[in-house]
Amino acid sequence: MVAAEQAGRVPLVGDWLARFILGGNTIGGATLSRFFAIHVFVLPGIMFGFIGLHLWLVLRHGISEPPTAGKPVNPETYRKEYDELLKKSGRPFWPDLAWRDVIVCTGLILTIALLAHFIGPPALDKPPDPSVLVADPRPDWYLLWYFALLALIPVRIEGYVMILMPVLLGMLLLIIPVLNHKGERAASRRPWAIAVVCLSVIMIGSLWIEGQQSPWSPNFQALPLSEKVVGATSGPVFQGAQLFHDKACLNCHLIQGHGGRRGPDLTHIADKLTHDNMVIRIVNGGNNMPAFGSSLKPQELDALVAFLESRKRPLRPQDQSSTARN
Ligand code: HEC
Repeated sequence: MVAAEQAGRVPLVGDWLARFILGGNTIGGATLSRFFAIHVFVLPGIMFGFIGLHLWLVLRHGISEPPTAGKPVNPETYRKEYDELLKKSGRPFWPDLAWRDVIVCTGLILTIALLAHFIGPPALDKPPDPSVLVADPRPDWYLLWYFALLALIPVRIEGYVMILMPVLLGMLLLIIPVLNHKGERAASRRPWAIAVVCLSVIMIGSLWIEGQQSPWSPNFQALPLSEKVVGATSGPVFQGAQLFHDKACLNCHLIQGHGGRRGPDLTHIADKLTHDNMVIRIVNGGNNMPAFGSSLKPQELDALVAFLESRKRPLRPQDQSSTARN
């Protein structure tokens, strides 16, 4: 669905492309057959083509030797040096080194076959249940960073990020060997290359953590607060803590690390807001915060605020003196 949505944004041919991917106007049986055919025939076919091209390039240009720091490549003389190195200490790819490939690939295929036999595919989940309204769809871990990226970028630039960015990135990667084919090859002499890799890892890692927590959406799995967090087993504070869960406050707000991240952390909100301000916030709502004025009885509102106030931290001496001065 996401792939079709993205393809649909391509200028001019978007509609046609989306229909081609889905095998119709919506997801259906034809989509499954189409995806099966793409993954079993088309993608492996393309892969074989690229492996062939790669091997042809290896036979034609040779394979890159391990880089040595302080020995920059000069395209004019590289060929001659390479041929000399080859004569002195080279070993032919075929059949000497191809054997290594054969061994590694056989091992790999054997491992996959053994895993398939002994572990097999993951068990199927429960069948879809249309009565479950809170589906909270999210992709598998390897696409979680992309999910976060799409959730966090402004709507205006979605099209560019989905269509233009992959095209530009792909072109950049294809063009690098043409533009940048001389100079140092050793990683220790290429700080920019290292920096690009580190930044990519940091970017994808941060997006991955964001995707994992998805703070832009309420946490529908928030469990009631434990007695240890609440610190009371009866009375208004206890009742307020229960309401905090039952009225879904906990889905959007964190209390001591429990709950959702859609709204601000309310663990110590009473340090910041006065009693009246808290009441105003809860009754009137705010940006992305529903107004609870009509859905809470006065006594429930009191209990909720009592719960939040019970979490007020004792003032430290220096705070007390500054409060007195104010
Ligand atoms: C759908 C998510 C959502 C739910 C449900 C929700 N809130 Fe909020 N809440 C928010 C957001 C977002 C803000 C920040 C609003 C703003 O900045 O205008 C907020 C702000 C607040 C604030 C002010 C925090 C501050 O730092 O100023 C309080 C207090 C608060 N909520 C209490 C509650 C209580 C109590 C409930 C349950 C009765 C509740 N919220 C339910 C999303 C939610």
